[in-house]
Amino acid sequence: MLPPGLPTDQKRHNLDPGLQHALEQATQDLTEKGFTQLRDLFSPAETASLRAEAQALHREEKLIPAKVGRGRERIQDLSQRNDSTLWWKETPETEAQALVFERWNQIREHLNRSLFLGLKDFEAHWAIYPVGGFYRKHIDRFREDDARILSAVLYLNPPDWKAVDGGALRVWPEGLEGSECEPIEIQPLGGSMALFLSDRIPHEVLPTNRIRYSVAAWFRR
Ligand code: OGA
Ligand code: MN
Repeated sequence: MLPPGLPTDQKRHNLDPGLQHALEQATQDLTEKGFTQLRDLFSPAETASLRAEAQALHREEKLIPAKVGRGRERIQDLSQRNDSTLWWKETPETEAQALVFERWNQIREHLNRSLFLGLKDFEAHWAIYPVGGFYRKHIDRFREDDARILSAVLYLNPPDWKAVDGGALRVWPEGLEGSECEPIEIQPLGGSMALFLSDRIPHEVLPTNRIRYSVAAWFRR
């Protein structure tokens, strides 16, 4: 038997009430603007542990300069982006990664129920931007592959990140009837996640004045 007095979704899926509420807000934002932000999705300790993994992999030179495009058109283009990346495996390799997979699944299941997005799996990579790093305005969905539905960027920066450190995510949310709005800037605060529709929302990473850590993920159909 399920405990009485809880919203049905929460009973069925046992979500923490804070996360449940955040995902309800996210559903509304994604419907209205194609963009949302989940703050404090991971604690400072969890974020630090993931950042330490990224730093260790970076020291071991496992991350490589990112490319743009797809298939035979896939090239390194330093005028577009200059971060380095490393793909995650299909199953978590550490406890901290297991927690990220758990959150991805909770988000996926919630949005499948609330928005019928039909999200099946994800692909994800570590991304490290050097001092001076940037990624020019782009859209995440490829021209010849429409599997990417929702982009989810988890930031792993230290708690003392300030606006002067740069590296903001600039997003052009959607207005009424799909019109483009004035851009907004999101600080890449550790433990928070930016979520946006991969096929519709233009965005860019503004130049960062500090090394900038993240995990970029795409939920696919
Ligand atoms: C990307 C991207 C945004 C960010 O990797 O495609 O747009 O804030 N990342 O890191
Ligand atoms: Mn992108």
